[in-house]
Amino acid sequence: MYRLVPRVVYSNERGFSFDANPSGYRDSWSTRSRGRMKKEYMNDFLKELSSEHQVKEKEKVLKPFRKDIYIENETTKKRTDEAVEEIRKNGRILVPSHVPKPIKHLKELQFGEELNLELYSKFQMPTPIQSQSWPVILSGHDLIGISETGSGKTLGFMLPALAHLQAQELFQRQTIVGSNRVAPMGIIVAPVRELARQINQVAEDYKKFFDVETALFYGGSGKDSQFVHFRRGFHLCIGTPGRLMDFIKNGNLDLSNVSFCVIDEADTMLSMGFYPQIQYIVNKTRKDRQTLLWTATWPSEVRDLAKNVTSKPIKIDIGSEDLRTKENIKQEIIVTKGRLQYSTLDDLFNKILEEPNHKTLVFTNTRNRADKLMDVMRRNGLKVASIHGLKSQDNRERSLDQFRKGYIDFLVATDVASRGLDIQGIKNVVNVDFPTHIVQYIHRIGRTARGEKKGMAYSILTPADATVAKDLIKVLKDSKQEVSPALLKLSRTDEKRWF
Ligand SMILES: Nc1ncnc2c1ncn2[C@@H]1O[C@H](COP(=O)(O)OP(=O)(O)OP(=O)(O)O)[C@@H](O)[C@H]1O
Ligand SMILES: [Mg+2]
Repeated sequence: MYRLVPRVVYSNERGFSFDANPSGYRDSWSTRSRGRMKKEYMNDFLKELSSEHQVKEKEKVLKPFRKDIYIENETTKKRTDEAVEEIRKNGRILVPSHVPKPIKHLKELQFGEELNLELYSKFQMPTPIQSQSWPVILSGHDLIGISETGSGKTLGFMLPALAHLQAQELFQRQTIVGSNRVAPMGIIVAPVRELARQINQVAEDYKKFFDVETALFYGGSGKDSQFVHFRRGFHLCIGTPGRLMDFIKNGNLDLSNVSFCVIDEADTMLSMGFYPQIQYIVNKTRKDRQTLLWTATWPSEVRDLAKNVTSKPIKIDIGSEDLRTKENIKQEIIVTKGRLQYSTLDDLFNKILEEPNHKTLVFTNTRNRADKLMDVMRRNGLKVASIHGLKSQDNRERSLDQFRKGYIDFLVATDVASRGLDIQGIKNVVNVDFPTHIVQYIHRIGRTARGEKKGMAYSILTPADATVAKDLIKVLKDSKQEVSPALLKLSRTDEKRWF
């Protein structure tokens, strides 16, 4: 069997087992990941195993920090068990017993009137994941948060992250260790650049209420512009794994002071082959840190990561552990008999164009097809751009920006745009190519119906997609959507072929 990463098992100070290549999943899970685990990373792992390193680690005296900063509001405190039950039932919140009570209204938050006013101006009430996760995180617990797309997870971790930093002594929030070397107290890791930028935007929106400075590090754009953060200093850094590792290795970013660590989109990180990088980054932080791990799905690989990086975590699951989509996304499946014809797309796009708001994200499975489709659409007079991994970062950002601001109505994308992106007003998602894995489908269509909004998802399936048809039927049924006879027939074709 192909095995790039030697199997190494060791223990950290928390007594957890670390497995540099857990269950060898990288062999089967992601082919893209194979090039990513560079030898130098492995050398770092091995170095850290050495007894000399472990002694050094123990010698480091870290200042204590405040973990439990929760001030329970009187209304929350007085909430009866029955009322708590009702909030959890209505929000489909699954939590173990003995966790802090959920909040019901934004005014129950402890962050002061000014921030409350800002929140009220945007939102009416906390989403289910926020109402339960805020009290849990502020109480200092590690957390595993599982919730559907567009359910407000970003603010779910951002407010407690900023509050955690604000609660620490000013001198401790960030240590300038030497020239151009900064040791912040908080870190947020996200899988893709656009997502890191978006998370940073949320941090920018709220940091003024907490007196916290942030820094954003992501690949694809020059290091110099990001290097300026090391001169200025920061308390919280947000970034993608590769660029964060670069700055750690260069000696600019020192994570030994990090007491609050967030891993967003953990399942995506693993499917992109980032397991070693995440473990490398997390291992550089304080062992007594608070760790939050957010994911939309809960496969065994994510469980394995959770076991390694969190300590006695509280798991909050909205709905169930099954794959699910929001009920406010209407899903329409178009089954074609042969290869996809442009006439099918013509009909679909004409139908979409009849709607007053037709902001549409179109997915293809390959970069080549994304470009070709964009050309055809443009020739047909549609205002369209495309984004994929081969485009320069500048180009990606420009296209995304135009789409965000509504200068173009259509964006053709590969899966670089499928996870975590929060673009206001996307009315439709079209899967011109159906993804090979159903998880990807859930993330893609989750780009519409963000927050409380409604959206449409159109997917075109050809006989080549028969293998995922069964998974799709389950998702449709679970989300109370119609299953057409054509789709049922397609799923059975698969059965006949294989059994
Ligand atoms: N309490 C709230 N009420 C209504 N909308 C909210 C609330 N909190 C956040 N939102 C909005 O919901 C949208 C989706 O939020 P966010 O991007 O955090 O979702 P997510 O759960 O991270 O989704 P994904 O799984 O796709 O990453 C954002 O536009 C955000 O402003
Ligand atoms: Mg998100």
